[in-house]
Amino acid sequence: MILQLHLGILLITFLVILYTDFNALLWLLGKKEKLSEPLFKKLHIAVSLGLAGMIITGIIQLLPLREWLFTNQLFGLKMFFVGVLVINSFLVGRHMKLACNNSFNELSNIEKRTLAMSGLVSTASWIGAFVVAKILF
Ligand code: HEM
Repeated sequence: MILQLHLGILLITFLVILYTDFNALLWLLGKKEKLSEPLFKKLHIAVSLGLAGMIITGIIQLLPLREWLFTNQLFGLKMFFVGVLVINSFLVGRHMKLACNNSFNELSNIEKRTLAMSGLVSTASWIGAFVVAKILF
């Protein structure tokens, strides 16, 4: 039951991320001048709640398996990805402001690179956590 909830939250969060990334891609390609701040604030809250839901349902499932998982390196890798996602979710607020107040071309090269890196790291960490979980369980 709790595993279904873990996976249900993952599916909903994944769909929200797809929609968010699609809009961010349109902005990056110059098809959208600026991103809507009220919409992106809501999307950011939705993804953060999804991540929090994954962590809470994950901890509940972890408890009976803790002796095995705490000494398992693959589980450590999964937690590393989750840690990166938590840190990134705090930095995204700052990145969002840039994308809501400027067109992509108006940004400096460092700002462009920071935004692209943050997006790549986030995507890689969601996929990484998913792939490791599929190998592990
Ligand atoms: C981005 C975050 C996460 C993703 C993408 C993710 C993904 C998954 C997936 C796909 C499974 C099912 C694997 C299968 O049965 O084939 C799973 C199971 C599990 N996850 Fe996560 N998870 C995340 C976060 C967490 C966290 C933060 C924890 C613990 C603190 C956790 C603990 C577990 C445990 C213990 C199971 C196995 C449950 C069981 O089979 O009894 N997960 N996760």
